[in-house]
Amino acid sequence: MERTENVVRACVVGDPVSHSRSPLIHGHWLQRLGIAGAYDRRQVKADEVDAFLDEVRAGKLRGGNVTVPHKEEAARRVDVLTDTARHLGAVNTVWEVDGKVWGDNTDVTGFLANLDERSPGWDREREKAIVLGAGGAARAIIYGLLTRGFREIGIANRSVSRARKLAEELQPQGEQQLVPIAWDARSDALKNANVLVNTTSLGMTGQPPLELSLEALPVQAVVHDIVYAPLETDLLRAARQRGNPAVDGLGMLLHQAAPGFSRWFGQEPQVTDELRLLIIDDM
Ligand code: ATR
Repeated sequence: MERTENVVRACVVGDPVSHSRSPLIHGHWLQRLGIAGAYDRRQVKADEVDAFLDEVRAGKLRGGNVTVPHKEEAARRVDVLTDTARHLGAVNTVWEVDGKVWGDNTDVTGFLANLDERSPGWDREREKAIVLGAGGAARAIIYGLLTRGFREIGIANRSVSRARKLAEELQPQGEQQLVPIAWDARSDALKNANVLVNTTSLGMTGQPPLELSLEALPVQAVVHDIVYAPLETDLLRAARQRGNPAVDGLGMLLHQAAPGFSRWFGQEPQVTDELRLLIIDDM
């Protein structure tokens, strides 16, 4: 029989969870770094999140990732939240320290690290950013843009009431402004923007296209699509064709995974082209 007692274990929990790329990413890093670890996936219901966290608390699991739809439930259930996770009310990474389960939201650092790597200096001009979408991904990204000091962040969403609610919830004290934008006004809102981020599912394989005119967008503005299937969306192609720097979403996926790996397995993993290709091959 295989000896498993010294294997450090982590897993991703969600519902559904079969689509999660986390096992592939962490499995690759475990193998490359020669670590005796295992990373699995588990489909769990909301009322099973506690049992998962108990396993982490007891050290049976070193930690794990939490994905849709349990990120908010996990934020309510962990013992300690990082500042980021507390602000967002959502946890995607958990680990144990002295019998307490910590929860963080690494979508923020994943988003920032990807842009820092792919488009260095993307946040040099911080006057205005436009975010399309107002879901969980938008929330993490807007928080990241706020931490980088963007003065005005426009949130354009099909349901403008959701954009308004998000703007109210994340509105910081001081000079920075979150501005809800009607979906029909999204193309005009690109005027004077330094950064444009698509956080909607539009443009993803199997989803409707994102209809957007880039005419008003300055050509220096960085265009980022968090969609990574396909890697080059219509938005990114249109941006490149007119000379805008364009960044796809694959790096955000890979960089959000790295902090968890370091905490559970004790070594810092690298986001390499080899790993990018592994994920692309699996799509
Ligand atoms: P996530 O947590 O990944 O951000 P989500 O909460 O389901 O996912 O949000 C998906 C985003 O894509 C939302 O901003 C959604 O707009 P609504 O809030 O109006 O639903 C947006 N979206 C999805 N389908 C869309 C469509 N056909 N047209 C415009 N926006 C769409």
